[in-house]
Amino acid sequence: MNTFNLKIAFFVYFLCFSNMLRATNTPVIKIETTNISLIYQVGDNNRLYQSYLGKKLTNDSDLKFLPIGTEAYLTHGMEDYFEPAIAILHNDGNPSLLLKYNTHTSNQLSNGVNETVITLGDDKYPVTVKLHYIAYTKEDIIKTFTEISHREKKPVVLSKFASSMLHLNSSKYFLTEFSGDWAHETNIEERELAFGKKVIDTKLGSRANMFVSPFFQLALDRESEENAGEVLVGHLGWTGNFRYTFEVDNKNELRIISGINPYASEYHLPANEIFRTPDFYFTYSFEGKGQASRNFHDWARNHQVKDGTKTRMTLLNNWEATYFNFDENKLIDLMGEAVKLGVDMFLLDDGWFGNKYPRSSDHQGLGDWDETKDKLPNGVGRLVEEATKKGIKFGIWIEPEMVNPKSELYEKHKDWVIHLPNRDEYYFRNQMVLDLSNPAVQDYVFSIVDNLMTKYPGIAYFKWDCNSPITNIYSPYLKNKQSHLYVEHIRGLYNVLERIKAKYPDLPMMLCSGGGGRCDYEALKYFTEFWPSDNTDPIERLFIQWGFSQIFPSKTLSAHVTTWNRHASIKFRTDVAMMGKLGFDIKLDDMNANEQQFCREAVEQYNQLKPVILEGDLYRLVSPYSGNHTSSMYVGKDQRKAVVFGFDIYPRYAEKNLPVRLQGLDENKKYRVKEINLMPRAQSSLQGNDQVYSGQYLMNVGIYLFTTRALNSRIVEITAE
Ligand code: DGJ
Repeated sequence: MNTFNLKIAFFVYFLCFSNMLRATNTPVIKIETTNISLIYQVGDNNRLYQSYLGKKLTNDSDLKFLPIGTEAYLTHGMEDYFEPAIAILHNDGNPSLLLKYNTHTSNQLSNGVNETVITLGDDKYPVTVKLHYIAYTKEDIIKTFTEISHREKKPVVLSKFASSMLHLNSSKYFLTEFSGDWAHETNIEERELAFGKKVIDTKLGSRANMFVSPFFQLALDRESEENAGEVLVGHLGWTGNFRYTFEVDNKNELRIISGINPYASEYHLPANEIFRTPDFYFTYSFEGKGQASRNFHDWARNHQVKDGTKTRMTLLNNWEATYFNFDENKLIDLMGEAVKLGVDMFLLDDGWFGNKYPRSSDHQGLGDWDETKDKLPNGVGRLVEEATKKGIKFGIWIEPEMVNPKSELYEKHKDWVIHLPNRDEYYFRNQMVLDLSNPAVQDYVFSIVDNLMTKYPGIAYFKWDCNSPITNIYSPYLKNKQSHLYVEHIRGLYNVLERIKAKYPDLPMMLCSGGGGRCDYEALKYFTEFWPSDNTDPIERLFIQWGFSQIFPSKTLSAHVTTWNRHASIKFRTDVAMMGKLGFDIKLDDMNANEQQFCREAVEQYNQLKPVILEGDLYRLVSPYSGNHTSSMYVGKDQRKAVVFGFDIYPRYAEKNLPVRLQGLDENKKYRVKEINLMPRAQSSLQGNDQVYSGQYLMNVGIYLFTTRALNSRIVEITAE
């Protein structure tokens, strides 16, 4: 090529691919919250580009200077060399898609909630892709999802179908993931991304996570910090397989593709049907991870979680007190303990059902939801009555999506069970998953709750468990559409949950999944809280709760006092649980009088502090990952009351402790600082206890919260005078 040709080639390349290519007189689409702008532009080629994502741009006259950016929702088969958001096989065998801008609309859905819909289409094929963006102004959250449809004669095949594609352009990217396992959830690890792809995904089928949580933090330019720096936090509302792909390209630009994991899930979409992806929610904070968490917490309470703005009940659960070994009398005794403790509810756990195969262990009975006569001769009704007489509520455990092969349900309805017909069955916790793609199974699962509620309308709460992932995957119902199973199973679950919510709108429910397996914001539309981990060792919980608090508010994090880790005092264990939605899973009778009195007083204390702990702003002050201590505080929205939690885990000998600087207070207010939740008759050793300080002092100098005593804890109440 001679020099002239080279220049022309370079010019053409520049025109076609340069970031600086700018459209004239074509639409600029702004999606905005109080602090964030996401801006799209339509190029001269009529394709849609993401031009900006970051701090809000308030001067429209500036927008013409924005580089056009990267194509918004990249398709397979065209000019892009990296991971696409969508791949579709047309009826004629052509696997490409070229999306052009058609229209966009903006609507106010409610006060402070605005939806923008951008409609794209292919000139050559009758395929429509609608990109939805719902902006929650005050909370700085943007929810996105995609609708895909077509008018070809036969079904098209979707092999990629992202909820969202976002583009970032920074010097460096640091990704934080929350991996782990059963009883070992949300281990926080941060890594710099380099050229190429990092994928976070799961293929568990019936739950989003066990090995990695369905959320991430992405810090820009430098490692994430709690109170400074830019960080994007994202989460997919999908209770099944999910996938996040982070790809750094040749120009060091990052694309984040979020959605259902397309693994083994090619979807044959008939004409005129809409494939609606799950929601992807994200926030963008300019003040570190702390602000991002508060954005998610506010949004969850105001817009997403079931009964998000309502308070939560304290409870006594019998699981760790009895496991499967109980009868009516034992349960009634435990209810008496719940009353002594002063909690709102008694929760009956696993083991109350099955007659041909009584549920005396986790090996049998799952699926047969009639009360075991030997254990409960007077049924659940008697228990509800007793609870009511005692002035507490009654809640009950179910695991309605699962079946033990040793059960009457399995004997009658093997065709309702996900399993490969010609292979050995595989059991996870001795059980299998019911096929929720089958409407008859959906009816059955709905009927479990419905029958219990019809028979015993006094039931005030459900703990809904789900212990097995899907293995040996095959649906007798879906026949030749097996690749739809992962998707249709979760849609079937939502159908059931929607019916329950419609019929019993005021029924609180805990989402449980052998620990923190299920904790996504789509599921939490139907559940008031979730069980973060079966590990209730308070030290482990400090880490696990720290992890989940990154996006879930305290009122959704069930935290129970148990006997795990007897080295930790009852006070330490209770103080840890009081940071979340407090419950007890313990026998009161096993404690001495002093400990019992402490627990009773702690429940009273918690009831008073609920408005701050459950509704307030969380400030994570000292990370358990950074040393031998940890602290978090909650501040009421009016900044008149705050609660500080401080924990000494294993301090070193003669370790120097600096004061902990508080956050979120009003620097002009005067606050009394008082240690509370002490053991009966114990005196506080907190330096400067029961003194009045300015908010300014507390936030700049701080309080000597930590000690050099191992497994010591403190709760400090901060009250404006
Ligand atoms: C697993 C849960 O995480 C536990 O809390 C308990 O409910 C058991 N299942 C019961 O089988």
